[in-house]
Amino acid sequence: MVERVKTGVPGLDEVLNGGIPKRSIILIAGGPGTGKSIMGMQYLWNGLQIGEPGVYVALEEHPVQVRVNMRQFNWDVKSYEAKGVFAVVDAFTAGVGEAAKREKYVVKDPTDVGTIVDVVRQAISDTGAQRVVVDSVSTLYLTKPSIARSVVLQLKKLLSGMGTTSMLISQVSVTERGFGGPGVEHAADGIVRLDLDEIDGELVRSLIIWKMRGTSHSMKRHLFEISDKGIVVYPDKVVKLKT
Ligand SMILES: Nc1ncnc2c1ncn2[C@@H]1O[C@H](COP(=O)(O)OP(=O)(O)OP(=O)(O)O)[C@@H](O)[C@H]1O
Ligand SMILES: [Mg+2]
Repeated sequence: MVERVKTGVPGLDEVLNGGIPKRSIILIAGGPGTGKSIMGMQYLWNGLQIGEPGVYVALEEHPVQVRVNMRQFNWDVKSYEAKGVFAVVDAFTAGVGEAAKREKYVVKDPTDVGTIVDVVRQAISDTGAQRVVVDSVSTLYLTKPSIARSVVLQLKKLLSGMGTTSMLISQVSVTERGFGGPGVEHAADGIVRLDLDEIDGELVRSLIIWKMRGTSHSMKRHLFEISDKGIVVYPDKVVKLKT
């Protein structure tokens, strides 16, 4: 029996046949606005509710904005940060600006994966994090696709080596069928692909578990929705894309 980590996202654990196999590093891949960041935040918040510390690595947005975004869903991490069981790693500002001075975990050179790894290691060890979300890994290799696989492997070594079960958020363009970078999809233990498609004049959200090492899982494309409570996946509602 594989040990599993429950995402706590309604419906998602069901389509994963119980949750993410422990110590897996999975890719959350999708186009713009498909709900990747929200899924990552919800995963961390749900962990905190059951006593599992977490770390959010912010590469795309100011750490202050990350907290604001979470609060929109009533996921207020302030008290957890104060208790030292949650941290936002600032891999965005490079320490520039007044707000950045108040951050505890600042990556001085966010373009250097080695520097990021050092700060994230410290944050995991301080908080005892069991869940880490990196938003997004694409930022690290968008201009240099040839290093994509090695970046992901470096992060994977750190994150699974420290015993976490983690999500790497991967951006793909609107039309791309892939998962974001050469070799990345093979380095990850699992892939959840989020999509937004126009069907009969309406945008419909759906997700598909493309792979998940160590477990069987649903092979269907499931409808999901985003509301002010976050993401809800519908295991019984299958979406058919028009081809
Ligand atoms: N309270 C809400 N209720 C319903 N939908 C919402 C709410 N808040 C955000 N959304 C939807 O979620 C989308 C943003 O989701 P998210 O930030 O997770 O996208 P993303 O996949 O991370 O995109 P990007 O790659 O651009 O960062 C918005 O475009 C909007 O459609
Ligand atoms: Mg995002």
